Amino acid sequence: MSQPPPSSVHPTTGVVVTGAGSGIGRATCFAVAEAGRPVAAWDINGDGAEETAARCRDDYGVEAIACSVDVRDAASIAAATDATTQALPTIGGVVHAAGVAGPMPLDFLDEESWDAVLDVNLRGEAFVVRALLPALKAANPGSAVVGIASVEAIIGNGMVPAYCSSKSGVLGLTRSMAHRLGVDGIRCNAVCPGAVDTPMLAPLLAVPQARDNIEKRVPLGRVADPMEIATVVRFLLSDDARYVSGAAIVVDGGMTAVL
Ligand SMILES: NC(=O)c1ccc[n+]([C@@H]2O[C@H](COP(=O)([O-])OP(=O)(O)OC[C@H]3O[C@@H](n4cnc5c(N)ncnc54)[C@H](O)[C@@H]3O)[C@@H](O)[C@H]2O)c1
Repeated sequence: MSQPPPSSVHPTTGVVVTGAGSGIGRATCFAVAEAGRPVAAWDINGDGAEETAARCRDDYGVEAIACSVDVRDAASIAAATDATTQALPTIGGVVHAAGVAGPMPLDFLDEESWDAVLDVNLRGEAFVVRALLPALKAANPGSAVVGIASVEAIIGNGMVPAYCSSKSGVLGLTRSMAHRLGVDGIRCNAVCPGAVDTPMLAPLLAVPQARDNIEKRVPLGRVADPMEIATVVRFLLSDDARYVSGAAIVVDGGMTAVL
């Protein structure tokens, strides 16, 4: 049996995080910065990304840059990739946390609202990873990709068909990338959070009855703090997870384990 790595389990390569201007993406930047890894905070909200990067530098002393990027747009991804590869010496991690909910039940659904969700949540991950592949390959060993899916990748919610489809798609993409990129030593995984206290869920959590209903469904009796998702992402990016690939880790306080 081989020995565990003697020093830090965290590679020293940089991590690109989409959706880094808020919520789970921002918490992920802080979690990897705490482990000493350089950070590239990507978000369509450039000010939010800038604030995240500044806090990574000030609070954790790591190299951190911000990029204003729309993950729906190939030219925007290419520009952010160039800026990031010039600023950070190596990139060994990609986390796709950019996401939109787009509530629109099937009977009201139109093509535009379907595309608005799929393009960010699913297509965005594929093309962000594709753009960063040369850097991920160059940074080996230890490169890893983590997609933020959702419990709604595995259970249905009639209010959000596009969202459920996009998140199930993230699991399929994860498995496909794990198959294709394993030969390059790049691990690909997904995290399926339950209810997390972020700006995305804030309007729902502000309704006391809705919050109460959610908390009653969770065996741990509460919604998650974004850092409780980010530390699992950090684990998947670390050498402690060096034999984990193609997996989806549910982080939901037990919600999907019970009826
Ligand atoms: N909050 C929850 O309860 C919960 C549960 C399960 C899964 N998730 C998933 O976690 C991820 C993060 O969500 P969150 O809760 O932190 O939400 P959030 O709204 O706080 O953060 C999402 C971020 O994505 C960015 N973004 C949106 N469209 C973009 C685009 N086209 N290009 C680049 N950035 C874009 C936003 O500007 C925002 O900063 C999402 O994929 C979401 O679906 C959230």
